[in-house]
Amino acid sequence: MSQYQTVCEQLKATPKTWLVTGVAGFIGSNLLETLLKLNQTVVGLDNFATGHQYNLDEVQSVVTTDQWAKFNFIEGDIRKFEDCQKACMGVDYVLHEAALGSVPRSIADPITTNETNISGFLNMLTAARDAQVSSFTYAASSSTYGDHPALPKVEENIGNPLSPYAVTKYVNELYADVFARTYGFESIGLRYFNVFGQRQDPNGAYAAVIPKWTAAMIANDDVFINGDGETSRDFCFIDNTVQANILAATASNDAKNQVYNVAVGDRTTLNDLFNAIKTALNENKVSYTKEPVYRDFRAGDVRHSQASIAKIEKALGYAPKFRIDAGIQLAMKWYVQNLK
Ligand SMILES: NC(=O)c1ccc[n+]([C@@H]2O[C@H](COP(=O)([O-])OP(=O)(O)OC[C@H]3O[C@@H](n4cnc5c(N)ncnc54)[C@H](O)[C@@H]3O)[C@@H](O)[C@H]2O)c1
Repeated sequence: MSQYQTVCEQLKATPKTWLVTGVAGFIGSNLLETLLKLNQTVVGLDNFATGHQYNLDEVQSVVTTDQWAKFNFIEGDIRKFEDCQKACMGVDYVLHEAALGSVPRSIADPITTNETNISGFLNMLTAARDAQVSSFTYAASSSTYGDHPALPKVEENIGNPLSPYAVTKYVNELYADVFARTYGFESIGLRYFNVFGQRQDPNGAYAAVIPKWTAAMIANDDVFINGDGETSRDFCFIDNTVQANILAATASNDAKNQVYNVAVGDRTTLNDLFNAIKTALNENKVSYTKEPVYRDFRAGDVRHSQASIAKIEKALGYAPKFRIDAGIQLAMKWYVQNLK
């Protein structure tokens, strides 16, 4: 039995109370779904800045009535300390996902990104410390590697941040470390590498590449590639990310006060990604025949990204079940059902 299966069985036998911030968003709603299916009690906090009620509605539709009854949603804002305090009351494990994602959004509006991702993070960290929760796991980011050229990325070697967003995610790590040193409040940061899957938002100027291209292909619109298409990423299917969160939340103390890469350890270029999405859509009876339109590189983007996942494999027993092709197939099935 894998470490993840063991932990899931233990949670089913002894259910806990979880707080998921950003619960109406992509990653948050997937965490909610898995936790409710494991019969956990979940408190959710979100202000719908980029999340949606329909994500929560979809989770409700795939769990039982009894499981849904164990979900308590608080509409609130992590920029308000009282909202964070209220959400942390009686909670065992915190999974802190709420933030404003997107490098270009942070370049367009660094102040709101800073308020949410740094002040909001500090509010959550403080409220969780005061509530004496058993564990605090937060969404860090591969953007923290910045301009460091080495591949694959190993946790201890980071470069200079390339965007306001990257600064905010690095500051999260610094605060987390300082809270361990000064208050003995130890947490775990998960540096996500390009997560994708069901419920990732295809709409808006700041949509991530996979949902954005998928929606364009389904609508038979042009697909734009920033740069020459040889930019590469370690795309990580959402179920792997959920696994990492559950392992981190339940980890023993010696695995805490650390950051871990969450990825697969593969590298896929944007040109290959384009073809993978096109092929998977074709298998779902969506035929796309246009060629991609190449345009300028985007400011703030890292050229190549690929994780070493050795640290999280060893410390948390993380074993990603989905490589990119399997994940793309599942994601495309969902987008075709939900967008067409
Ligand atoms: N998706 C990725 O590839 C990726 C990569 C690296 C890091 N991350 C991080 O993972 C986390 C989740 O990202 P996601 O992809 O699910 O994004 P998302 O936008 O779908 O979810 C973020 C959620 O946070 C909520 N939120 C934003 N500001 C808030 C506030 N002030 N108060 C309360 N809630 C607020 C939003 O409404 C949304 O529901 C974020 O911290 C993000 O920075 C994501």
